[in-house]
Amino acid sequence: MSTTDPHNEEHADGIVEDREKAPPVYFNVLFYGLIIWGVAFMSFYLLSGWSSDAELKEKMAIHKGEQPVQQEAAAPTPAPAAVQAPAEVVAADGQTLFKKHCAGCHGANGKGAFGPDLSGEYKYGKTTMAVHESIAYGRPKNMPGFEEKLSPEEIDALTEFILSL
Ligand code: HEC
Repeated sequence: MSTTDPHNEEHADGIVEDREKAPPVYFNVLFYGLIIWGVAFMSFYLLSGWSSDAELKEKMAIHKGEQPVQQEAAAPTPAPAAVQAPAEVVAADGQTLFKKHCAGCHGANGKGAFGPDLSGEYKYGKTTMAVHESIAYGRPKNMPGFEEKLSPEEIDALTEFILSL
């Protein structure tokens, strides 16, 4: 390939451009195909009126429309806890919940059975936060999580109760 050939031109960087050789077919297919696809995609986006934002808003509207039904069912539960008065009342509430949900594993007085004794040392920490976490999310060795079954207020009441053991 000589640099004097009028079809070929040597660039400043020493690369010789061979203008006689056409690019391979797959290159042209990809190149023009992508341009056509790009134009088609943009016109679809501009002209069809579809947008991901509108779709999201629509879905959110549907989602929010469903919410009130669920909230109606959940509403009566937090209400009594909202009237939280003396700590003793809460502890009693916690005791009832404990008998119902926890005594089977931790023993009627929380002194331990299948589950550990809750009146002494705590493996995962004996703070309100740690205990709340133990109840809500469970612990690895067969302590189930109660996040779905109990409301946050009920878990608070239970936390207070078992910390008073
Ligand atoms: C299916 C049996 C079972 C039930 C029901 C159960 N627990 Fe547990 N619980 C366990 C076991 C087993 C552990 C020990 C988990 C571990 O060591 O990883 C545990 C651990 C705990 C801990 C952590 C103790 C520590 O040492 O840090 C707390 C707090 C606790 N349970 C409270 C409760 C409360 C409150 C309830 C009722 C809402 C309850 N558990 C219901 C079996 C149960």
